[in-house]
Amino acid sequence: MSYKLHIENVSKQYAGTYALTPTSLTVNDGEFITIVGPSGCGKSTLFNIVSGVLSPTQGTVAIDGNDVTNAPGHVGYMMQKDLLLPWKSTFENILLGISLTRKPTEQEKTQAAALATRYGLGPFLNNFPHTMSGGMRQRAAFLRTLMFNKDVLLLDEPFGALDSQTRFSMQQWLLNVWNDQRRTILFITHDVEEAVFLADRVVVMSPRPGKVEKIIPIELERPRERGILTSQSFISYKRQILDLIYNDPERSEHE
Ligand SMILES: Nc1ncnc2c1ncn2[C@@H]1O[C@H](COP(=O)(O)OP(=O)(O)OP(=O)(O)O)[C@@H](O)[C@H]1O
Ligand SMILES: [Mg+2]
Repeated sequence: MSYKLHIENVSKQYAGTYALTPTSLTVNDGEFITIVGPSGCGKSTLFNIVSGVLSPTQGTVAIDGNDVTNAPGHVGYMMQKDLLLPWKSTFENILLGISLTRKPTEQEKTQAAALATRYGLGPFLNNFPHTMSGGMRQRAAFLRTLMFNKDVLLLDEPFGALDSQTRFSMQQWLLNVWNDQRRTILFITHDVEEAVFLADRVVVMSPRPGKVEKIIPIELERPRERGILTSQSFISYKRQILDLIYNDPERSEHE
């Protein structure tokens, strides 16, 4: 299979201390990757490097075989605190990434409205963020990322602030969009259940300074419905990842 993104031996040091130890990861076209790991292990640092906004201390990033290290503008990136501007409407916020650099074209405006309508924000196009729920705001922020029309999307804890029910409906919403749009997604989360539910593969990172500890392919059928959350195979993936995160030697001895 052809790969979309190749991260090779990327690391970051601040004042001689590693924030991210050399990390490699190859992602296939159209794949959904989730990344879990303790706070401070370098997940956002990795995304900043892949997006080209942060210079790695060493290593390279390639998309479609082209070196894009230190070169912004090749991925859609929803940062950890990606907020909507409170004085702009949903429609304007979705177009914001474009309108920061130039005037959006009529075609882009039409695309923004069409995306919003297709993905459930149609009635809220003229609403301001404070009049919308947390889930709606996250959708708008995500659609803004989608508007960049990049094949690779980096999503840094996009649903972190949502309650578990809203979060679950957002996960299903996102899988639906991903299925429609055929993008390649890398998604950071602290929630192991979310990581398993969404992913083709889960990347587990070790504590600070982080590196890729293990990559676990999730062989659950798609489309993923609520029922799989309580299936034996889902629970055993979850346990495997929790054991890695908490580094539980007792359990490994028994198994
Ligand atoms: N500009 C900086 N200068 C110095 N150290 C930094 C800088 N940015 C990040 N770090 C350090 O790099 C490490 C990794 O940070 P990063 O934000 O990538 O972690 P993270 O895995 O995304 O954590 P979280 O889950 O809390 O978001 C942390 O120890 C952090 O303190
Ligand atoms: Mg982070």
